[in-house]
Amino acid sequence: MQAKTPKSERASGDLWWQKGIIYEVYIRSFNDTNGDGIGDLKGITAKLDYLKDLGIDCIWVTPFYESPMKDFGYDISDFKSVDKMFGTMRDFEELLRQTHQRGMKLIVDQVPNHTSDQHAWFKEARSSRNNPKRDWYIWADADAAGNPPNNWLAMFGGSGWEWDEQTEQFYYHAFLPEQPDLNWRNPEVQKAVLEEMRFWLEKGVDGFRVDVMWHLIKDEYFRDNPDNPDYKEEQPTYNQLQPVYSTDQPEVHDIIEKMRNLTDSYPDRVLIGEIYLPIHQLVSYYGPDNQGAQLPFNFQLLTLPWEPKKIAIAIDQYEGALPNAGWPNWVMGNHDQSRMASKLGEAQARVAAMLLLTLRGTPTLYYGDEIGLQDVKIPKDEVQDPQGKLMPDKDLSRDPYRSPMPWNNSENAGFSTGKPWLRMVEKTEKLNVEAQLQNPDSMLSLYKKLIALRRQEPALYKGLYRPVFSDNQLIAYLRKTEEKNFLVVLNLTDKTCYFKPDRFKFKGKVMLSLLPDHETETVENEIKLKGNEGLIIEIE
Ligand code: GLC
Repeated sequence: MQAKTPKSERASGDLWWQKGIIYEVYIRSFNDTNGDGIGDLKGITAKLDYLKDLGIDCIWVTPFYESPMKDFGYDISDFKSVDKMFGTMRDFEELLRQTHQRGMKLIVDQVPNHTSDQHAWFKEARSSRNNPKRDWYIWADADAAGNPPNNWLAMFGGSGWEWDEQTEQFYYHAFLPEQPDLNWRNPEVQKAVLEEMRFWLEKGVDGFRVDVMWHLIKDEYFRDNPDNPDYKEEQPTYNQLQPVYSTDQPEVHDIIEKMRNLTDSYPDRVLIGEIYLPIHQLVSYYGPDNQGAQLPFNFQLLTLPWEPKKIAIAIDQYEGALPNAGWPNWVMGNHDQSRMASKLGEAQARVAAMLLLTLRGTPTLYYGDEIGLQDVKIPKDEVQDPQGKLMPDKDLSRDPYRSPMPWNNSENAGFSTGKPWLRMVEKTEKLNVEAQLQNPDSMLSLYKKLIALRRQEPALYKGLYRPVFSDNQLIAYLRKTEEKNFLVVLNLTDKTCYFKPDRFKFKGKVMLSLLPDHETETVENEIKLKGNEGLIIEIE
């Protein structure tokens, strides 16, 4: 195994996954090359030049492994395979080769918490109580009244326990009954999953985005979860309880460290964790001595109200909570969350883009955000997402955030020659990649400018973050190295406001502005900002 990089060096901001920009490709919806209406691996390869030109550094591809698709690929039946729907292993190798050829990185999804119920491991495990793989999953007897062993709930609705008729025990599933949870207390499970990760590392992938990392291990005594006094009817039924015994257990960090030791035994790899937890719990996933995930995904921009004071406080708290060598990151969207452009509208989504790309920490973009794609309303009878179907009265379907990418103005917006698997955004002149590439004022052109500036300026990708000011409309901060100092001023509302902080004097040149008014202007001590304006100023 390689010697570990000293902590101080790891926090320099110079490693590829620290200074780079990650772009999530939800494979089903990116680009379809075989006309079946579903995106595929070749479809991603065909768009690599687009991604390179956009300026991103790393592509995260969502699961393309063999799967019954009950949870659209997050129910894997063979982790070392490629589902025919998405292509072949050769297509994957070609995608990886061509990504690397263009100087970009590729990371894949790793789903270690559960498998599909069609996975060979589970088929064996459920075949009899004496099967050697029985203990690879989480089984429990019914109580005297025939009920599950405890009150744990499934994220997609209902009990987390499913009765197995044949062997007369319950098994636990944090998601669908077709996604049984693996028993990570079993060393054989640990070994087997780590071997599967090794398979992809050997192929040359640059790292993993580990699915639901905070779920991996559960309380060994199966204690009941306590009630959640703040539960509201419109929330998923899962929120009725506080999952203190079914998630975020102390032992999870030993498992993550094992994954990290594995990825660290290959040069330059990254381990990313999907974790939805409050900040003080989230940062524990960097692990003792930073031997945990290098990037525990920080979803605050997706979950916080869009209020400048709250956001400014959240940034400060996050910066303050990071362990010494922990590198920050910020996520702008993903396949489980409503799109920024829908929540904020197009004009504020531009402000959000400037925020994301000027904060300290690795930014993650979600495909389509760069053109301002919004959620697409899906009629009730077309809902496909299990979360939507299982709790139909709560409007929880994630389909709207997964609509196929509009590439141009042709039939099916150039996504597919067949019928897209999911409804697409209504065709418009402006909302497609081709049109936006030609329009210097488009969202895509803005993203390209912001990304280019960030890549060019070390102060923006690795400089210090210093808060300057926030009120009910504005947020302002500095990003600085010894050489350069940038002031970012963002108006998070659609009303005019003034930036004139009492104790902060400045003079500088506007390097990038969201509206035409201020371009290349010199500003000093006071700025009037129109609604939805954002400025990056290089301080003299
Ligand atoms: C993660 C994925 C989500 C999936 C779930 C279960 O949260 O992002 O799409 O449904 O895990 O695997």
